[in-house]
Amino acid sequence: MYAMIIEETGGPEVLRYSELPTPVPGAADVLVQIAYAGVNPADWKNRQGLLAAYRPYFFPYIIGFDAAGVVAAVGDDVTAFKPGDRVFTPTNHGQGGQGSYAQYTLANQDRVAHIPDGLSFAQAAALPVAALTAWQAVFDRGGVHANQKVMIHGGSGGLGGFAVQFARWAGAQVAATCSTVNVEYLQGLGVERVIDYREEDITQAVNAWAPDGLDYLLDAVGVSTLPNALDLVRTGGTLVSIPTLVDDGDFEAAATAAQAKNVMRVFSTMDDVGCSATLGKIADLLGSGDICLPPIREFPLAEAAEAHRVIQSGHNRGKLVLKVAEL
Ligand SMILES: NC(=O)c1ccc[n+]([C@@H]2O[C@H](COP(=O)([O-])OP(=O)(O)OC[C@H]3O[C@@H](n4cnc5c(N)ncnc54)[C@H](OP(=O)(O)O)[C@@H]3O)[C@@H](O)[C@H]2O)c1
Repeated sequence: MYAMIIEETGGPEVLRYSELPTPVPGAADVLVQIAYAGVNPADWKNRQGLLAAYRPYFFPYIIGFDAAGVVAAVGDDVTAFKPGDRVFTPTNHGQGGQGSYAQYTLANQDRVAHIPDGLSFAQAAALPVAALTAWQAVFDRGGVHANQKVMIHGGSGGLGGFAVQFARWAGAQVAATCSTVNVEYLQGLGVERVIDYREEDITQAVNAWAPDGLDYLLDAVGVSTLPNALDLVRTGGTLVSIPTLVDDGDFEAAATAAQAKNVMRVFSTMDDVGCSATLGKIADLLGSGDICLPPIREFPLAEAAEAHRVIQSGHNRGKLVLKVAEL
């Protein structure tokens, strides 16, 4: 099969086309023939070697967590999927397997979901990591519910666009930060108080909008961009940070400070094991129109390096996907 691989960690230029053997599914695996691969910030960090603490690097190494395509084959224990099914998945990459910038990839059946009618491969490839991380941060670990005052710091990114919509769908009042060019985008997603961090003082804006403090705050950007996050949350509220690997501060000190203020402090990393059901729920919400897809920009797989430059800028709106094949 063809694949976009790296032979060493480094800048976008280390990405290159190669031929590798098509993987063979293990008993619980689905072999997916990929139409589109999703692009996430984790991909450039992985390419640069920043995930070394979490996984052994081996070469040639295929980058990429998210995939959408067609089932090509299944292992002996797989019952819920058959060849020809349209599926999307965060693949086995999070558990150390090869990634999705390739013609084929493997995904354990517990992290695969069917693509509903009406959702394209490109749209489905934009979902797994961003939407799952947002769901887990907002609901599984954050317990967001109706009538809460919720803020998403970094609302216009891949993850943020889902987080604001999940919180809105749950009936919360939502504020979110973004730069000036994304204010209208977030207003269109139903954000009640869009805070333009380039023009406004975030603390003043939050204090005026939620004088008693936020019930829930999600930091999807990094601690240096909102160093007083804890002060914005009410006593008994919840502060969730998404670990970024590049701007996380001191976890232990942050947890101690939160404990002193009686704020639940969560560092929420995506858990892909057993995520099929959540992926299915998210697809249902898209199908019913309760949430909508973020803007999706498409690159051919051959231009993966350019897609990496865009995502690495830290200012992409919505999602990026790579077209791998016409299926
Ligand atoms: N640990 C995990 O399991 C996990 C999982 C998923 C994601 N992540 C991490 O979470 C972060 C967000 O992921 P993503 O997919 O949403 O990234 P993304 O699509 O690249 O979005 C980043 C967003 O951050 C916004 N931003 C940049 N500087 C900002 C600032 N000072 N204040 C407010 N917003 C700012 C940008 O909006 P503007 O252009 O409007 O500034 C941009 O839309 C990344 O670091 C990613 O690696 C971690």
